[in-house]
Amino acid sequence: MIYLDNAATSFPKPPAVAEAISTFLATGAGNPGRSGHRLALAAQRAVSETRRLLASCFGVADPARVAFALNATEALNQALWGLLRPGDRVVTTSIEHNAVARPLNALADRGVAVARVPCGPDGALDLDDLARALEAGPTRLVAMTHASNVSGTVLPARDAARLAHDHGALFLLDAAQTAGVLPIDVREMGLDLLAFPGHKGLLGPTGTGGLYVAPHVRLAPMRQGGTGTRSEEERQPEHMPEALESGTVNTVGIAGLGAALRYLMERGVVNVAAHEAALTARLLAGLKEIPGLRIHGTADHRRQVASVSITLEGWEPVDMGAVLDSSFGIAVRPGLHCAPAAHRTLGTYPQGTVRLSPGCFTSDEDVDRTLAALRGLAGAGN
Ligand code: ALA
Repeated sequence: MIYLDNAATSFPKPPAVAEAISTFLATGAGNPGRSGHRLALAAQRAVSETRRLLASCFGVADPARVAFALNATEALNQALWGLLRPGDRVVTTSIEHNAVARPLNALADRGVAVARVPCGPDGALDLDDLARALEAGPTRLVAMTHASNVSGTVLPARDAARLAHDHGALFLLDAAQTAGVLPIDVREMGLDLLAFPGHKGLLGPTGTGGLYVAPHVRLAPMRQGGTGTRSEEERQPEHMPEALESGTVNTVGIAGLGAALRYLMERGVVNVAAHEAALTARLLAGLKEIPGLRIHGTADHRRQVASVSITLEGWEPVDMGAVLDSSFGIAVRPGLHCAPAAHRTLGTYPQGTVRLSPGCFTSDEDVDRTLAALRGLAGAGN
């Protein structure tokens, strides 16, 4: 199989991930922070080590500022619901995934003003448009994706964070498509909140992810409950990470994520970025030669991550996806990608696109075989 659905979840995982999960289940799967026996301590060590690796990956000085979550969606919900109150104003973009768009729509029903900056038809964000939106009224938060999950277009996070701060707003970055794929440093980029999945570019198992919260940001927890610490207190502790981590965390997944992070840091995020940029360049060059095929996005590997959205004359995206799978063994994601607003922006709503997303284990040969299959489909029509 040729797996080109890494934007949904990365596959395969480094072998060390399954090994770490298996070893953890056999030898360390106690409940972290709940007891003093050896299994509980082993679990605590695994959780702390993964938290430390995440902090190191994102330039976070104090690992306690990173709270585990199930995925980027949960982390984004925690950030948005935990921060915004009726009367607040938030600025976002027209290219967001439903993980940002839907909570903001629900918050708008509760009195939060939401301003959406339109992105261009290639998904790009013009910073002058963002500045105008910020000048239109006092703003509590700018919330935006680092890269579109549909077109791969990278948004100027560092400059957007600076603009947000210049206007007295906090900055939340959705790194669903970029964590582990592009270098991210919260201090250098000026991020107040960073939501990330563990199972995409970070190469860990599903059910993992997290939220970085800068020391000056206070969030109301979405959940209250047992934290294993200060059990005598009637109220949720305010210190991180316990403030946002009630109930037993996904220790098994977190142990796997730790192994994935060790692999990734050894290989180097910049090297992964270079590998994926080369694959994207190869893919885009080949796609441009196929008659009747349209690329919906920047069509420039220097301005995007490895997610390429296409349509092909004579083919509905859903049919093309099915034929690529059944006849060629190529796994892609067709449709709206949980991002209808992004598709409206790109002009591909409601039929959607076929998204090809190579990953860190994709080869040149995989790309070439995919291009050959698409050339075949272009010739055949449907
Ligand atoms: N958000 C993931 C995607 O874009 C699941 O496919």
